[in-house]
Amino acid sequence: MTIKEELSKIVGDAFVSEGLDFALGAVKPADRPDLAQFQCNGALPAAKAAKKNPRDIAAAIEARLAGAPQFAEISVAGPGFINITLSDAYLSEQAGALTSDDHCGGWRRPAPEKIVIDYGGANVAKPLHVGHLRAAIIGECLKRICRFAGDAVTGDVHLGDWGLQMGQLISELALRQPTLEYFVGGATGPFPSDPPITLADLEEMYPLASAACKADPARADLARKATKELQDGRPGYRALWRHFVDLSVAAMRQDYDDLGVEFDLWKGEADADPLIPELTGDLSDRGIIEESDGAKIIRVARDDDKKEMPPIIFVNSQGAVGYHATDIATIVDRKRTLGPDRILYVVDARQRLHFEQVFRAAERAGYFSEDRLEHLWFGTMNGKDGKPFKTREGGTLKLRHFIDLVTDKARERLAESGFAQGYDDAETTQVARKVGVAALKFADLSNPRTSDYIFDLDRFMAFEGKTGPYLLYASVRVRSILAKAKAAGAGEAGAIRIAASEERDLALMLLGFGDALREAYEKRMPHILCDHAFSLAQVFSKFYAACRIVDEADAGVRASRLSLAILAGRQLDLILSLLGLEAPERM
Ligand code: ARG
Repeated sequence: MTIKEELSKIVGDAFVSEGLDFALGAVKPADRPDLAQFQCNGALPAAKAAKKNPRDIAAAIEARLAGAPQFAEISVAGPGFINITLSDAYLSEQAGALTSDDHCGGWRRPAPEKIVIDYGGANVAKPLHVGHLRAAIIGECLKRICRFAGDAVTGDVHLGDWGLQMGQLISELALRQPTLEYFVGGATGPFPSDPPITLADLEEMYPLASAACKADPARADLARKATKELQDGRPGYRALWRHFVDLSVAAMRQDYDDLGVEFDLWKGEADADPLIPELTGDLSDRGIIEESDGAKIIRVARDDDKKEMPPIIFVNSQGAVGYHATDIATIVDRKRTLGPDRILYVVDARQRLHFEQVFRAAERAGYFSEDRLEHLWFGTMNGKDGKPFKTREGGTLKLRHFIDLVTDKARERLAESGFAQGYDDAETTQVARKVGVAALKFADLSNPRTSDYIFDLDRFMAFEGKTGPYLLYASVRVRSILAKAKAAGAGEAGAIRIAASEERDLALMLLGFGDALREAYEKRMPHILCDHAFSLAQVFSKFYAACRIVDEADAGVRASRLSLAILAGRQLDLILSLLGLEAPERM
């Protein structure tokens, strides 16, 4: 149980003893920490229902709780708030229990589920946009939070590998090298196992092909025709498609890896394609698919809709399937292969309508219950001009650019601040990458998921304030304090005995982790964990400034402070790993 749950149970039981509802006993951290540690406001609604004076009800609860060993003080304030301060003995015992908890006080879900998280979403051969970066960072963090809370989680990158860009590339190559065996009419292979082009060729071809298709309808027709033939299974096109995907994915793997993002599955839109004929038949038989101007559509509007809800085009008039159809088929594929209770999609806010349509269609078709499909959308990372961020080189954005950008900046910063001195080149680069990536990820995660924010590398990279580098530094610092204490013969960690106010604040903060994790989990909001990590680092700093460890004479106090410091370090590192931040050995 988290500390809020623990206290709510005690206070809730007191309400029940007064013949009142258990839920009225809900306890939360005090709004005025200068007056108390926790508070319960349940006497106010209780009084309203019973037509009594709330202060009288609060006083009755106070009388029931007073003298209990958990509390140092219970008092009634204002119109009937119950203020609660824990006894140091109880606080010591609760904090002590964290030392043997491998979750370090982290909340566990009472009834875990099987979950698929769809995040990443990069497109084969197409450059990334900033939304892909945020999807990777936020999705990875949510995956780790769910897994830590007990869910069985599968993370899937869900590559964009089946769209028009594939036809644009195939037709582009056909124009450039028409004699390649892939283009010989009726050729069935086998085709060479080595690709006919390099990744650099692919990246050079895509923007040109896409621009040509925009400028010239005849050229666009070639691309559409190639897409359709690919989806229909023309062997030469399939073989080329495989090459393009493999080239792209090899580079992506390295980039995601450097970013600390790990997918369990590298599936894509194309993996759902084999299901399309079956689903088309099923949906047509049951009247869910309708014919409209030669296309097959699914209506998803409802009578009480406040906004327009256009139908889905499942198969277009040329017989090709698009983004809606592959998403619906992917739901069915996941249901069959993984059997999840829930699917989470970490995809940017611009796709809200898309997912609403897909979820409604899945519900209508009876494939998946709509309330178990969640689109966890997020805002945009903007440049200082307020528009979606672009690198200086111009339009195209690559994960590699970002990783290099933040690594270079971190290297500069580390040198300026006198950190990472006297390391060899390889270690400096590694530390710089970890610090740079942590700066970027923390900046992203510490903003509420649904807000936009501005990419400001100088601010992200500061060693002071609410930043990734500050937290990495805090983690490295706790470790070095403990190492020094050990070397100085401070002795073993032992029973926690809270006495000083800085010890009390640290213990309360450590106990708050469970509730922070629960809230971050339930709201799917990583910034709540970021806030907790930052507060923990600050409270630890105050504790360490005020409470001596090595030169404390009393062995019991020393042992207690060592335990608190160890816990702070463990909890901080745990949160860093949930956020996907990697702390270097030293800094
Ligand atoms: N590839 C898509 C894009 O770039 C994102 C995929 C998100 N996931 C999904 N199941 N639709 O916009």
